[in-house]
Amino acid sequence: MRCITVCVAVAALGVRASLVRRDDAHHPETPDTAPNLPIIPSVPFLGNDAMPSSPPSYPSPNTTTNGWWEHPVKRARKDVHAMSLDDLATLVTGSGYGNGPCVGNIRPIPSIDFPGLCLQDGPTGLRGVDYATAFPPGITVAGTFSKELMRRRGTAIGREFRGKGANVYLGPMVNLMRAPAAGRNWEGFGADPYLNGEAAFQTVLGVQNERVQATVKHYLANQQEHFRNTGSSNLDERTEREVYLHPFMRAIQAGVVSVMPGYNFVNNSWMTQNSALLNDRLKRELKFQGYTVSDWGAQHSGVASALAGLDMTMPGGTSCCDTNLTSFWGANLTQAVTNGSVPLSRVQDMATRILAGYYFVRQDEGYLKPNFNFMDIDDPATNEHVDVMADHDVISREISTAAIALLKNANATLPLHKPKKIALIGSDAGPFALGLNYYPDNIGWPYGALSMGWGSGATMNSYLVTAYEAIQQRARRDHTAINWSFDDFDYVNARKVANYSDVAAVFVTSLSGEGYGTVPNSKPVDKAANMGDRNNITLWNGGEKLIQEVAAINNNTIVVVHAVGPVLMEEWIEHPNVTAVLWAHLPGSESGTAVADVLYGDYNPSGRLPYTIAKQRRDYPAEVLYNSDAPQPQINFTEGLLIDHRHFDAKDIEPRFEFGFGLSYTRFNYSALDVEFIGDYGHNWNHKWGHHKAPDGLPSWLFEPAVRVSFTVRNTGDMDGHEVPQVYLRFPNDSGEPPKVLREFDRVWIPRGDTVHVHHTLSYYDLSVWSIPHQQWRRSPGTYEILVGASSRDIRLRHSLL
Ligand SMILES: *[C@@H]1O[C@H](CO)[C@@H](O)[C@H](O)[C@H]1NC(C)=O
Ligand SMILES: *[C@@H]1O[C@H](CO)[C@@H](O)[C@H](O)[C@H]1NC(C)=O
Ligand SMILES: *[C@@H]1O[C@H](CO)[C@@H](O)[C@H](O)[C@H]1NC(C)=O
Ligand SMILES: *[C@@H]1O[C@H](CO)[C@@H](O)[C@H](O)[C@H]1NC(C)=O
Ligand SMILES: *[C@@H]1O[C@H](CO)[C@@H](O)[C@H](O)[C@H]1NC(C)=O
Ligand SMILES: *[C@@H]1O[C@H](CO)[C@@H](O)[C@H](O)[C@H]1NC(C)=O
Ligand SMILES: *[C@@H]1O[C@H](CO)[C@@H](O)[C@H](O)[C@H]1NC(C)=O
Ligand SMILES: *[C@@H]1O[C@H](CO)[C@@H](O)[C@H](O)[C@H]1NC(C)=O
Ligand SMILES: *[C@@H]1O[C@H](CO)[C@@H](O)[C@H](O)[C@H]1NC(C)=O
Ligand SMILES: *[C@@H]1O[C@H](CO)[C@@H](O)[C@H](O)[C@H]1NC(C)=O
Ligand SMILES: *[C@@H]1O[C@H](CO)[C@@H](O)[C@H](O)[C@H]1NC(C)=O
Ligand SMILES: *[C@@H]1O[C@H](CO)[C@@H](O)[C@H](O)[C@H]1NC(C)=O
Repeated sequence: MRCITVCVAVAALGVRASLVRRDDAHHPETPDTAPNLPIIPSVPFLGNDAMPSSPPSYPSPNTTTNGWWEHPVKRARKDVHAMSLDDLATLVTGSGYGNGPCVGNIRPIPSIDFPGLCLQDGPTGLRGVDYATAFPPGITVAGTFSKELMRRRGTAIGREFRGKGANVYLGPMVNLMRAPAAGRNWEGFGADPYLNGEAAFQTVLGVQNERVQATVKHYLANQQEHFRNTGSSNLDERTEREVYLHPFMRAIQAGVVSVMPGYNFVNNSWMTQNSALLNDRLKRELKFQGYTVSDWGAQHSGVASALAGLDMTMPGGTSCCDTNLTSFWGANLTQAVTNGSVPLSRVQDMATRILAGYYFVRQDEGYLKPNFNFMDIDDPATNEHVDVMADHDVISREISTAAIALLKNANATLPLHKPKKIALIGSDAGPFALGLNYYPDNIGWPYGALSMGWGSGATMNSYLVTAYEAIQQRARRDHTAINWSFDDFDYVNARKVANYSDVAAVFVTSLSGEGYGTVPNSKPVDKAANMGDRNNITLWNGGEKLIQEVAAINNNTIVVVHAVGPVLMEEWIEHPNVTAVLWAHLPGSESGTAVADVLYGDYNPSGRLPYTIAKQRRDYPAEVLYNSDAPQPQINFTEGLLIDHRHFDAKDIEPRFEFGFGLSYTRFNYSALDVEFIGDYGHNWNHKWGHHKAPDGLPSWLFEPAVRVSFTVRNTGDMDGHEVPQVYLRFPNDSGEPPKVLREFDRVWIPRGDTVHVHHTLSYYDLSVWSIPHQQWRRSPGTYEILVGASSRDIRLRHSLL
C-alpha cells in the first residue's frame, strides 16, 4: 500500500496512537516486580555546573525498511549500489548558492535517471516566487487550534510547491516560542509542545500527500536570532525530549522526509555535527528514516558532520550564501572516503536516505522540473510565471479569520451592526504607500498592513486586501460614513477623525524576523534597530500612544493587533473606552477580509492564543540573550519544562490573557466528562519496559491508546459558532511536571442550541514522563487528573484517573 493512502486513512482516524502498529515481538513480557518505580525528577540544567557538552554517539545508524519506508528504501538501496563515489558525493552536496533556480539545488545524476532536487523556502509558502499565495504564517494557523485547517493549509502549500516544480518545502518550523521576543517565533506554532506537535503532524501530512517533501526545522532548540551562528542552547535531557523534541517526533510519525539541523550549538556542539542529537535521538531513538539537511551555511566540517549524521549539505558551499563552490563535501567527501576517514557505507546511507525520501512521496512519477527562478524572478528565459494560486485565497481567508482571538468585547460592542460612522486609524489599516513587496523578504520600514514577519520565511504578496478596502465595501453596503487616518504619528488628525466617528478602530503592530535582517522600530524618531529578535515586546511605531489618544476622545475604540507574538497591553487594555480587542496575528494576504468578517459578525470568532500574554515582560520564564562577550554565548534553558503557560501556572503568576484564551459571540456549556482506561496494559504499564533499557527506538506500545476522554459541549447562546475545548493533564504531584500540560484540542462547530459529543484518546506516551535514570518514558506513580476547559485557565470539567 502506498504511503499516500495510509497517511490519509490514519489521519482520518484522528488517533495519534494508531500511527505506530503494535509489534511486541521484540519485547517479551518481563513482569516488573516493582511496577511503581519512583521517577526521579530531572535535574534541571541550572547554568552553574560545568560547561555542558554533548556525549559522542557513533556510528551513524543506517536507515531501515520499517513500515511505510520499506519500498522507497529498497529502491533507493538498489540505486545506490549502481552509483559511483562521485555520484554519491554529488547527490549529498548542494550545487552552490545560485547554481540552480531554487534556494537550494541538487544536481541531476544521469546514471540513475535522477533529475536533481529543488529545495525552496518555506515555511509560509513559496519564498520570492510570483503567482503564489502568501499564506497565513505558522503562528496564525496555530491560533485556529483547528487540526483540519492545519491540514488544509499544508495541502494548499504542497500543491503550490508541486505546481512550481519545487521538490522540497523547507517547513514546517517547530521551534517553540521560548522567549517571546525571539525573531522567528512567527514562523512556528506558538509556545506549547503539543500544539506545535499537532500542527507539525498535520502540515507534514498535508504537504507530503501532495507529493512534496517536507523539512521540519530547525533541529534542535534554535531559539533566538542574536548569536544565531555562535550561541549554544544548553538543556537537560528531559526538557529536550518533553518540550523541544516532541514536535520533531510528531513530524516523524507523519512520515516527514527531512529534518534540518540549525545554525546553533546544543551543549556546545554544532547542530550539524552533534552526534547525540543526530545519530542517537533522531536516527536511533526516533527511528528517523529520511535525511538531515543542513541549514544554509550551517555546516562547519566535512568528516565530523558526515560521521555525526548529516546527510545533505546546503547550499553546498562552505558558507551561506555566496556562489562559492568550495565545499566541505563534494570532492572533499570523495577524498575522505578514499583516505578512510568516512566509511563508504556512511555516504551510501546518506544517499539512500535522500533517494528514499524522493521515492516516498513518488517524485519519480512525472514530477515537474522547476519553472521559476528564485535567483532572478524577472529573467524571461527561466521564469514561466506559472500561476499556482488556484482558490487558495479561500483557505487563507478562512485561516486568517478563524485565527482571530477576540480578547475583549465590553457590553457586546461587537459584532458591529451598520454603524453610522466609522474611523480606521493607524498605518496597518491601509496599504504601504511605496508599494507591495517593496522590501525584499519584508526587511524595511514597518508601515502599512502587516502581513507577516521578515526573513527567509516571508513570501511575496500577490495581492493584499487591507482593512481599509474590506471595511469600505461594508460601508458602501451599510451606508456607513467612513474616514481614516493612516499616519501612526499624527495624533491631531487621529483625534479629529476619531472624534467624528461613533466607532474608531485602531490598527497597531509588532514585528520581528530572521537575524540577517535588521529593522528599525519606527521613523527616524527611533533608530534603535531590531536584529531579528524584537528589542522589546511593546507595540511598534508608538502604538500605545495612538490607542490612548483615540480612546481619550472616542468611547467605542476597537483595537486590532497584528503581531508576531505577545505584546504588553497594560497601558490601555483596561481603558473604559477600549471596548473590543481583536488579536489578528499575521494574516498573509487576507488581512482586511478576516478582520471585517469578525468585526461584522459574518464569522463568529473562535481563535485562541497560542501563547500567554503577560502583564509585564519579566513575568515570562525565558528571555533572548542579547548581550555577551563570549565567543560562544551560553543560552541556558534553566526554566526547564516551564515554558509559557506552564511557568505562569507553576509560579502562580496572573497573566493578562492566558494560553488558549479567546471569546466568542455565543456561549458554551461543558458537561458529562467521562474518562476511561482503554489500554491493554492497565494502570501500570511500566512493566512493558522490562528491567533493561529499551532497545533501539521507542516501543510501539507507547503510542497505543491508553485513555479515552469524552465530554459534551452545548451552544447555549444565540449564534452558531466554533468552540475549542482543550484537554489538559495534571500529573501526580511529585512527577516534576508543571501543574497542567496540554494533551489534546480541536475546534468543533456547534450550531446554537445544539450539543456536540467530543472524544479524544490519549496514548501511554501522553501520560508518561521521561525518566533520565531509566532512559525511558515511564508513568509517574500517583493520581492523574484530566482537565477539560475553554482555555488553560478556564477549566470546566475535571476527572481523576489512577
Ligand atoms: C550558562 O551555564 C554555563 C555553564 O554552567 C555558565 O558557565 C554560564 O555562565 C551560564 N550563562 C549564563 C548567561 O547564565
Ligand atoms: C546537555 O547537557 C546537559 C547538562 O549537562 C545534559 O543533561 C544533557 O544530556 C546534554 N544533552 C545533549 C543532547 O548533549
Ligand atoms: C550500514 O549498512 C552497511 C551495509 O550493509 C554496513 O556495512 C554498515 O556497517 C551499516 N552501518 C551501521 C552503523 O550499522
Ligand atoms: C569561499 O569559502 C572559503 C572558505 O570559507 C573562503 O576562504 C573564501 O574567501 C570564499 N570565497 C568567496 C569568493 O567567498
Ligand atoms: C576541500 O576543503 C578545503 C577546506 O577544508 C577547501 O580549501 C577546498 O577548496 C575544498 N575542496 C573542494 C573541491 O571544495
Ligand atoms: C581525508 O580527506 C579529508 C577531505 O579532504 C581531509 O579532511 C582529511 O584530513 C583526510 N584525512 C587523512 C587522514 O588524510
Ligand atoms: C457597559 O454597560 C454598563 C451598564 O450597562 C455601563 O455602565 C458601562 O459604561 C458600559 N461600558 C462601556 C464600555 O460601554
Ligand atoms: C469633537 O467634536 C466636538 C463636536 O463636534 C467638538 O466640539 C470638539 O472640539 C471636537 N474635539 C476634538 C478634539 O476635535
Ligand atoms: C475625514 O477626516 C479628515 C481629517 O481629519 C477631515 O478633514 C475630513 O473632513 C473628514 N471627512 C469627513 C467626510 O468627515
Ligand atoms: C523598544 O525598542 C525600541 C527599539 O526598537 C527602543 O528604542 C525602545 O526604547 C524600547 N522600549 C522599551 C520600553 O524598552
Ligand atoms: C471616553 O470617551 C469620552 C468621549 O466619548 C470622553 O469624554 C471620555 O473622557 C473618555 N474617557 C476616558 C477615560 O478617556
Ligand atoms: C459614547 O459617546 C456617544 C457620543 O459621544 C454617546 O452618545 C454615548 O452615550 C456614549 N456611550 C457611553 C457608554 O458612554
